[in-house]
Amino acid sequence: MSEIILFGATGMTGQRAAAELEAAGASFALAGRDPVKHAHVASRFPSADVRIAELDDHDALVRAFTNAKVVLACTGPAGVTNERLLVAALAAGAHYVDLGGEQAFLHAAYERHESTARRAERVAISGAGVDCVLGDWAAAWAAAYVCGMERDPIGDAVRDRSIDRLADDRPLDDVAVSYVFDDLTLSPGGQRAALARLHDRSFVWRSDRWEQVAPASQRRRINAGLEMGGERDVVSFPGGDVITLPRHLAAKQIQTFASTSRRAGTMTALRWLARVAPFVPKRATDALATYAPSDEEYARTKFAVVAQARRGFASAQVTVRGQDLYRTSAVIAAWIARQLAARSTGPVGMRAPSELFRPEPALREVAEAAGLVVEPSFA
Ligand SMILES: NC(=O)c1ccc[n+]([C@@H]2O[C@H](COP(=O)([O-])OP(=O)(O)OC[C@H]3O[C@@H](n4cnc5c(N)ncnc54)[C@H](OP(=O)(O)O)[C@@H]3O)[C@@H](O)[C@H]2O)c1
Repeated sequence: MSEIILFGATGMTGQRAAAELEAAGASFALAGRDPVKHAHVASRFPSADVRIAELDDHDALVRAFTNAKVVLACTGPAGVTNERLLVAALAAGAHYVDLGGEQAFLHAAYERHESTARRAERVAISGAGVDCVLGDWAAAWAAAYVCGMERDPIGDAVRDRSIDRLADDRPLDDVAVSYVFDDLTLSPGGQRAALARLHDRSFVWRSDRWEQVAPASQRRRINAGLEMGGERDVVSFPGGDVITLPRHLAAKQIQTFASTSRRAGTMTALRWLARVAPFVPKRATDALATYAPSDEEYARTKFAVVAQARRGFASAQVTVRGQDLYRTSAVIAAWIARQLAARSTGPVGMRAPSELFRPEPALREVAEAAGLVVEPSFA
């Protein structure tokens, strides 16, 4: 019996996640739609069996997931592929984890599947990569500091019970998570997901509800450290954290930002591009060809996640820096899948990262596994 079923094992992140599961000695199987490609991947992981199922065949998916503790979906774009995997995982009695990160998918998934997951007494968590697990944990930790909460003991990362929402009595004024990149290289799946996002509605959290906003309509200056060129512009983008953070912390405003270049001119061009992109017909972006970068290009990507929380005059920032978006996301996704497979009790339902894991200990554990630098402004 395999405890974890990794669906989408042929992809850039899927193959890396399989390597992480293997290195951790986890019991896992590989699953997906293409028998030839999966046989090829499986030759590198002799202990893992292979299960073939098409996304359109719900019964085949449920059969493939039967007896598993966790289904880890490394497929994408999430909005196209993941809902069917989530539904089948819960029907098979397994927890569900995906890389996701797309705001529109997260928003819809919480609305549609929260009660099914709770009734099944299973967990569903989406966005288990750099975006939005690191942002959710870093922002929750910064917010807890601003609210004067005691620090969580290191080494106790998995929650065994549900938590109250932080700052419900006196909400934070502003929470912002910025994703900052140098030499950003996107996988074919990442390129398709980025194009799909151009047509999604974009939300920010304001005064206890999600408000639709124009893409790239806001700009900030943030400092992700000298390693990332010091201060730079970031522009608003539809991050998954806008959906996950209000579940466990109260704030008047929650927004996500991104920067893919140190050069101000490039960021201005991107703002204009983001504004016109929704007017390009969806069929045109579907037709754009993706390209397959080399392993060296992926490894060159440097990133920082900068989470800022403010209430009145009190503020805090937690910065997480790393290299290689895809390996780091694979480490995070595999770590979460292993923790859920090993967990005997804890919150159930469709959950945000910080509802399932204590932010600081979880960040520290994942940072050690993925070689990340974690820098709180206050410790
Ligand atoms: N949250 C984050 O920080 C983060 C980080 C990394 C990736 N991601 C997201 O994760 C997703 C996967 O990324 P990736 O880099 O691994 O992409 P990728 O290399 O293109 O791999 C995509 C995987 O999904 C499978 N797939 C796609 N459409 C399918 C379908 N209709 N039925 C069955 N399988 C299907 C592919 O199978 P085939 O080989 O059969 O085509 C492949 O295994 C993307 O949406 C990406 O945006 C998020």
